[in-house]
Amino acid sequence: MRQRLIAGNWKMNGTGIDLGEVAKFKGLSIPANLTAVVCPPSTLIHRMSELLSEFAIETGGQDCHQLEAGAYTGNVSARMLADAGATHCIVGHSERRVGHGESNELVRSKAKACISAGLKTILCVGETEHERLAGRTHQVVGDQLSESIPETANDRNLVVAYEPVWAIGTGRTAERTQIEDAHGFIRSHCSKLLGSRAAENIAIVYGGSVNPKNSAEIFGTRDVDGGLVGGASLNGDDFAAVLNACQD
Ligand code: PGA
Repeated sequence: MRQRLIAGNWKMNGTGIDLGEVAKFKGLSIPANLTAVVCPPSTLIHRMSELLSEFAIETGGQDCHQLEAGAYTGNVSARMLADAGATHCIVGHSERRVGHGESNELVRSKAKACISAGLKTILCVGETEHERLAGRTHQVVGDQLSESIPETANDRNLVVAYEPVWAIGTGRTAERTQIEDAHGFIRSHCSKLLGSRAAENIAIVYGGSVNPKNSAEIFGTRDVDGGLVGGASLNGDDFAAVLNACQD
């Protein structure tokens, strides 16, 4: 049975006072086949990881620099995230790809840096609405996978997050058939890149307007092994409800 993953992405939200949301996880039981992670801004990683350890929930970064250290003002390396208590790191989020012009090649070097720092990499891929309407979803996602997955990746250090760009933060969730098609495609493409055994075991999670109402249906879709949750992760009760929806 594949390990499932639910990761909350707080994006650029949250200061110390918001750590109170974590208290809402009290009483939540996380089964062994589910990994739960919250990715707050890097300023909160250390404090959050100490608070979350009580609830068997892990902490992650939202991005990292591709190098270990150096004269890169304002950046944080994967090793620094791990040192602060992170176990996971998101790379290639569309807000980085689009908003910061990150190429597949750069995303690949960031994923490589995460893996060598001992972080599990949550690699985001997904098409824009324009690309979907042009019938290019498989091509775009296939290229992102081929060009962003480093040779050191395997099913234990990599999770793929399928996030159609048009579904992020819009309240427009992809239809079940669209999710099933994309996840099936990703698994078969991973088979070519990582081998059939790794492809069978790798977690492929869905992201894009996941919330307590739609999560059970999404997580019940074939080839969906969890979710990457933005807006709904900011509220502890909502995130707990999404975590509960991912338990068989
Ligand atoms: P959303 O964000 O759940 O707010 O759509 C998802 C993401 O950006 O990872």
